[in-house]
Amino acid sequence: MGFAYTDLSVDRDDLRDDVLTGLASSPKSIPPKYFYDDAGCRLFEAICAQPEYAVCRTEQSLMAAHLPEIAAAIGAVEGIVEPGAGDCVKVRRLLDALQPTHLVVMDIAGAPLAAAAEPLARDYPALAVTALGMDFIHDLDAATPYLPAGRRLVYYPGSSIGNFAPDAAAALLARFRQLAGAHGQLLIGFDLKKDPQRLHAAYNDAAGVTAAFNLNLLARLNRELGADFDPARFRHYAFYNPVAGRIEMHLVSLAEQDVNIAGQRVHFALGETLHTEHSYKFRGDEFSAIAHTAGWSLAGEWLHDGFAVQLYRGSR
Ligand SMILES: C[S@@+](CC[C@H](N)C(=O)[O-])C[C@H]1O[C@@H](n2cnc3c(N)ncnc32)[C@H](O)[C@@H]1O
Repeated sequence: MGFAYTDLSVDRDDLRDDVLTGLASSPKSIPPKYFYDDAGCRLFEAICAQPEYAVCRTEQSLMAAHLPEIAAAIGAVEGIVEPGAGDCVKVRRLLDALQPTHLVVMDIAGAPLAAAAEPLARDYPALAVTALGMDFIHDLDAATPYLPAGRRLVYYPGSSIGNFAPDAAAALLARFRQLAGAHGQLLIGFDLKKDPQRLHAAYNDAAGVTAAFNLNLLARLNRELGADFDPARFRHYAFYNPVAGRIEMHLVSLAEQDVNIAGQRVHFALGETLHTEHSYKFRGDEFSAIAHTAGWSLAGEWLHDGFAVQLYRGSR
C-alpha cells in the first residue's frame, strides 16, 4: 500500500534554545531527546548489542514467547502508531500477528527513521506506512492528520517511558490516549526494578559504548551549535539511585573550564555535572498506578527476566 515520509521535525532554534536553557539551569542538563543524531542512533543500536544491556534482547524474547496471547488480548486493530520507533525492528512482530492496514511511526531522528521504515512497506505490501520526522514532546498534535481511522494501538517499547519522571510520564501517557483515540489501546514495555548492580552494569558496559553515546552529545553540540566542548575533559558517569528508582547519567567536568556555545560562554567548575538522562525503573504495580492517573486501565501484563510489557485500554 506504500510508504510516505513527512518531515515535521524541530528546527535548529529549538535545539539551541533548549540547550542554552539547560546549561543555564542548576544542575546543568540537556534533554535526552538530543542524543539521537545519526551517530547517536547508531550508538544506541550498538548499546542494545552489549552483553550488559539486556533491555532490547529481553523485550524481544518476551514478545516472541508471548506473542499469541498478547495478540489475542489486543484483538483486531486497523492501525499501529509507534512514537520513538527508532530502527522499527520491534513492531514487525506486531505487524505479523495483528496484520493492521496502517502503521504510523514517528521519531525525532527523521532521516534514520525514514531509512528504517521504508523497507516495512516492501515487506508488508498490504500495509500503508507513514513515517513522521517529529518531536512528539514538542508537538504531538502535528501527528493528528496522519492518524488512521478505526481502532488504533499505540506501541511504546524499549523502556523509553523511563526517560520521563513519573509526573511527566503520566502526562505523556495521557497524550497517548488522544493518539490512540476512541477504543484505542496502549502496549508498552518497561524495565523493572532489579539488582542495582545489574542495573549499574547495564549503563557502564565494558566496551564503553554507553560512554560514547553520552559523550556524542558534546560532539553534536560542537557540530550543530558551533560549541567547543573538549569531550576528553568530561567523564561519562552513570549510577543507579535506589531512592529515586532511576539510573542517572551525567557528563562530569574533569576540570574548571569555559565552553563557548551558540555565542555564549558557559563555565563548568571542576566536578560539576551536566545531567543528560534519567532512566526510571518500575515495579509493575507502580507503573500501572501512573498509567491509571493518565486514564488507562490495565488489560494484560507479561513479564520476562526483569522486563514487563503491559496492555492498557481507556478507563474513562
Ligand atoms: C531508547 S530508543 C528506543 C527505540 C525503539 N523504540 C526501541 O525500542 O528499540 C528511543 C527512540 O525515541 C526517539 N525519541 C526520543 N525522544 C523523542 C521525541 N521527543 N520525539 C520523537 N522521538 C524521540 C529517539 O530518537 C530513539 O529512536
